Amino acid sequence: MRKKVTKAIFPVAGMGTRFLPATKSVPKEIMTLVDRPLVQYAIDEARAAGIKEFIFVTSRGKGALEDYFDHAPQLEQELRKKGKDELLEILKNTNMDSGEIAYIRQHRALGLGHAVWCARRLVHNEPFAVILPDDVIAAEKPCLQQMVEAYEETGGNMVAAMEVPPEKTNSYGILDVQEDMGAMVSVKGMVEKPDAGSSPSNLAVIGRYILSPNIFRNLNKLKSGAGGEIQLTDAIAQEIGKEDSGVYGYRFRGQRFDCGSKAGFLQATVAFGLARDDLKDDLGAYLDEVMAVRKAAE
Ligand code: G1P
Repeated sequence: MRKKVTKAIFPVAGMGTRFLPATKSVPKEIMTLVDRPLVQYAIDEARAAGIKEFIFVTSRGKGALEDYFDHAPQLEQELRKKGKDELLEILKNTNMDSGEIAYIRQHRALGLGHAVWCARRLVHNEPFAVILPDDVIAAEKPCLQQMVEAYEETGGNMVAAMEVPPEKTNSYGILDVQEDMGAMVSVKGMVEKPDAGSSPSNLAVIGRYILSPNIFRNLNKLKSGAGGEIQLTDAIAQEIGKEDSGVYGYRFRGQRFDCGSKAGFLQATVAFGLARDDLKDDLGAYLDEVMAVRKAAE
C-alpha cells in the first residue's frame, strides 16, 4: 500500500507587493474572493483531498493569518446570543483544531524551494502536498483530490499542469513531456521560467504538487536557480528518471485563476460571485449592463 498523503505545505511568506497598498497591513492570503479569504479556498481543497496536517510557511507581518485560523469565542458567543445560527455555522467551518495547523517562519526570502525546505522537520519521511494559495482552482472535484487519486496509481512526484499561451511560458515552471497519456504526462525535463523561445513546451506547472520526501534531500544541496532563487522546480527535476520515483504532470479538470495578479483576482471574484445563489442574479444583471455599455461605445 502506498503511504497516504496527509500533510500539506502552504508557502505564504511572500510580501504580496503586487497588491500594495492593501498588503501593507493585510497579508495577501487574507484578501477575499467574495467573502472568503484566499487561504480558505486552499484549506478546503486540502481537506477534501484527505489532508490532516496543515503547515504554513510564513514570514514577518503574517500575524493576521494565524488569527484567522484561531477560534473566536467572543464573536461566537455574540452570534449565539442573537440566534445567528447561519453565521455561526460559517464560522465553525473555518475552525482548525489545535495541533492540526503549524506555522514555520521563512526568515529570508530565498525562493519557493527554500520555503518548502523550511517545513522539512514537520513532514519527515513521507509524501506531502504543496498548495500555492495564489492559484485558485474552481472544479467540480477539487484539484488536489483529483491528483491524490491519480497519484495512488503512479506514486513518485506529481505536479498540476495546464497549457498556457506560448508568450506566457516564461512565467511558469514548464514540463518537457516524455509521454503524453491524456490527463497524465510523464516528464523528462522541467525548466523554471524558461527564456522566451527556449521553452520545451507550453505545458505549465500550476501550484499543486504531491512530492516524495526525496525533494527535501535535493533541496538540502540545491544552489539558487532562475531569478537567483532556490527553485522547487529544480528539486523536482532531480527526481526525473529515478527508479521507483519519476515525475508526472496531471492536467486537472477545472478553471484556474492566477490570484497573484490583479486581473486574475478580479476574474476569480466575478466567477465565484456568479457561482453563488445569493449573488448571481444581481451580479449577472450588472455585468450584462456593463457589457451593453461597452458594446454601445465600440
Ligand atoms: C511558482 C513556481 C512555478 C509555477 C508557478 C505556478 O512560480 O515556481 O514553477 O509554474 O508558481 O503558479 P511563481 O508564480 O511563484 O513565480
